[in-house]
Amino acid sequence: MAEIIVALDFASADDAMSMVDLLGTEGDFYKVGLELYTRAGPEIVRSLTQTGRRVFLDLKLHDIPNTVVGGVSAAAALGVELLTVHCSGGRAMLEAAADAAAGRLGLIGVTLLTSLATEDIEAVWGRSGANIGDEVLRLGALAREAGLSGVVASGSEVARLKSELGADFKVVTPGIRPAGSDVADQARVVTPAAAAASGSDYLVVGRPVTRAEDPAAALRAIREEAA
Ligand code: C5P
Repeated sequence: MAEIIVALDFASADDAMSMVDLLGTEGDFYKVGLELYTRAGPEIVRSLTQTGRRVFLDLKLHDIPNTVVGGVSAAAALGVELLTVHCSGGRAMLEAAADAAAGRLGLIGVTLLTSLATEDIEAVWGRSGANIGDEVLRLGALAREAGLSGVVASGSEVARLKSELGADFKVVTPGIRPAGSDVADQARVVTPAAAAASGSDYLVVGRPVTRAEDPAAALRAIREEAA
């Protein structure tokens, strides 16, 4: 069954921990991203792990192998369960990161940011006419070969990744929107039921929970829909 990760997109530790308290036993997995981590530091991760919460640290590491290994080890020491790295960091970086993560945390690769379009691929990598789905699969295959646990992918890419890279290769899916809810700035959204049915292992949900009138009830409804 897919697990739900609540995205703590807040600007302060107090706001983030108030949301965690509000969710009570409904929330068990939390995503700490760049803003919250940069503002609140490793202390926010400790506050979560020390109270039994599971943490997805979404720092999207991308650097030379030695530096990324240091970041992976530091995250593992904090008790982080899932950590993201950019697949475009290359094979040597991914392999070194996977070695450092082995038995300590799950390493999740970011393939192509969903904000990138075909013309960005041409501008950044110099290849025209690239197909986004093919690029995601190629980078996913590289991540798998390097020993990562899985990748982040939109709901529309999950089925292909699972069928080509194997059911045990984890997929983390953001852009989850319960039917009828506000899409906000997400371009490609799927419902909790559709994401779970496509085989996604972790659903990342932010605003549909954190901006709900009753966040705990919203999270419960999403979990029930995904089940
Ligand atoms: O509020 P919402 O449910 O849109 O939040 C989704 C979360 O997942 C945000 O923290 C966002 O940064 C993250 N994310 C995403 N799309 C990606 C990768 C990460 O929405 N491709």
